[in-house]
Amino acid sequence: MSEKLFDVYGRYYDLLYQDKDYAAEAGYIDALLKRYGIAGSDLLEFGSGTGKHGRLLAERGYKVIGIERSAEMVAKAAPADGFVCQQGDIRAVSLGRTFNAVISLFHVISYQTGNSDVQGVFSRAAEHLLPGGLFLFDVWYSPAVYAQKPEVRVKRLLDDDLEVTRIAEPVSWPNENRIDVNYTIHALQKSNGQFSTLSESHPMRHFSIPELDLLAEAAGFERLRAEEFLSGAEPGEQTWGVCFVLRRI
Ligand SMILES: C[S@@+](CC[C@H](N)C(=O)[O-])C[C@H]1O[C@@H](n2cnc3c(N)ncnc32)[C@H](O)[C@@H]1O
Repeated sequence: MSEKLFDVYGRYYDLLYQDKDYAAEAGYIDALLKRYGIAGSDLLEFGSGTGKHGRLLAERGYKVIGIERSAEMVAKAAPADGFVCQQGDIRAVSLGRTFNAVISLFHVISYQTGNSDVQGVFSRAAEHLLPGGLFLFDVWYSPAVYAQKPEVRVKRLLDDDLEVTRIAEPVSWPNENRIDVNYTIHALQKSNGQFSTLSESHPMRHFSIPELDLLAEAAGFERLRAEEFLSGAEPGEQTWGVCFVLRRI
């Protein structure tokens, strides 16, 4: 996993995901946490990105500390009342305290492509929870990846000063449960006419439920839920993003 991942992509991250409904997602996470008795408590967020979920959850009364590896993303993650973010690697982080829940949203766990990467993150989550604490995350779901097959996608976005075209070209590694998404970004800065082309490859692992159950059990967790992210529906071949809720035993 490259340490520089997101340092290019991160420059355009909020523009690329301007249509993502972070408010609805924060509402969904809040409802799931409340279902298991965790309301307005201390959250550790793994891979907090530009801080959007963290700030929205802070508005809902949680105290959130984000851990994010990319310096570019950390620089864009403005602190707010109840939300701070620090640079770190979630495979190795050790804050020396516990939280009520660890959350990790928008496929952060799928960026952990090797077994030792996932095992490291699950162990770090367990170390930051007391028995009964929750670990909540979403991943790419293997049955949907096999059934739908990733395709080349082009996305065009605009703001006051930027015109961005992102091309996503997937390369599949079926024996490794991995898709490398090769991004090319063409960006035009309208104010000065500067045009740049950048590229970054994002290796993404997809998971099955029994595979994650084994990893969870080995790290001292039991699974409470596996459901479609946001809808709560039962996962199937059409479910690209599955949300897991684990409880520390
Ligand atoms: C798709 S982004 C999601 C960001 C944010 N959670 C959101 O929902 O917008 C994935 C993030 O995970 C971070 N990440 C991936 N692996 C990481 C690791 N081992 N340690 C810390 N951050 C990591 C990346 O740098 C990136 O910011």
